[in-house]
Amino acid sequence: MAEEKKDHWSSEAYQNAASFVPKLATKIVQWLDPQKDDVILDIGCGDGVLDVQIHEVLAQGNGSIHGTDASPAMIEAAIETVKKAGTAKCTFEVVDAVELAKAPHLQRGQYTKLFSNAALHWVLGQCKTDAAKQAEFFRAARDALVPGGTFAFEMGGLGNVSEMRAALLGAVARRVGLAKAVEHDPWFFPDEAWAKTVMEETVGGWKVERAEREYRPTTADVGGVEGWVRLFGASFFEALPEGKEREECVREVVDVLEVVCRNPGSGGGFHLGYVRLRVLARKL
Ligand SMILES: C[S@@+](CC[C@H](N)C(=O)[O-])C[C@H]1O[C@@H](n2cnc3c(N)ncnc32)[C@H](O)[C@@H]1O
Repeated sequence: MAEEKKDHWSSEAYQNAASFVPKLATKIVQWLDPQKDDVILDIGCGDGVLDVQIHEVLAQGNGSIHGTDASPAMIEAAIETVKKAGTAKCTFEVVDAVELAKAPHLQRGQYTKLFSNAALHWVLGQCKTDAAKQAEFFRAARDALVPGGTFAFEMGGLGNVSEMRAALLGAVARRVGLAKAVEHDPWFFPDEAWAKTVMEETVGGWKVERAEREYRPTTADVGGVEGWVRLFGASFFEALPEGKEREECVREVVDVLEVVCRNPGSGGGFHLGYVRLRVLARKL
């Protein structure tokens, strides 16, 4: 029997630690450039905040947006978001994007645009040692689009949250060794050249029209460094047995990062070193 994947995500924890994620998506939504009749597939939609925002344009025509996410908790939250907003053509479904190729109903070339914000470093991280599987994702994404359709995505880029990743890897590695800590690192942070090569050369049928990487320091949310570490670092800590040892490791990581990330200026708060990779690619 296939091992059931643990759902690390919760809408509450996300709102506490990372409500800035959809708020900072203005640029990639501009690159998506939604038009009123677009039929859009969102990959890793989370709690649906951006889908409802994009839907405002689609509601003026015949457009629709289908949000997919591997987390049942996030999809449940997205359905609630849509109920509150009262939008009609915004639907959601639990789909593991690593297995997008095994979802034939999403592979009929029916989408005019694909969108993804802050999700692909998790998706590609799940197959970070399997280049063929990563390529399979981009092949499936291409097959979901109409010819000429576009894929606008933003994800963590090379150098993203390096201070967080170093503290997490360091503390976990000291207890279980670096190889095991690396196995539990859930992220894949590539650069623009990687995206162009995998899409245009390895997979083919794509033209990367725009690609950029931006250093975008971000102030931590109300949950502070600890909220961020507990939500986004959950997979690292699973290298350790649940209980005292794991909790001590969390504390060590948080204590180090509260020193490193503290903003000593009048603005205060904690500064997280986000690096974003944005890509706009067209299906040929
Ligand atoms: C940081 S959140 C971003 C959510 C949303 N796009 C936003 O901008 O607020 C990352 C999302 O990626 C989802 N995710 C992680 N791995 C995934 C996978 N293999 N397939 C689909 N979604 C995945 C998580 O469940 C989570 O909702």
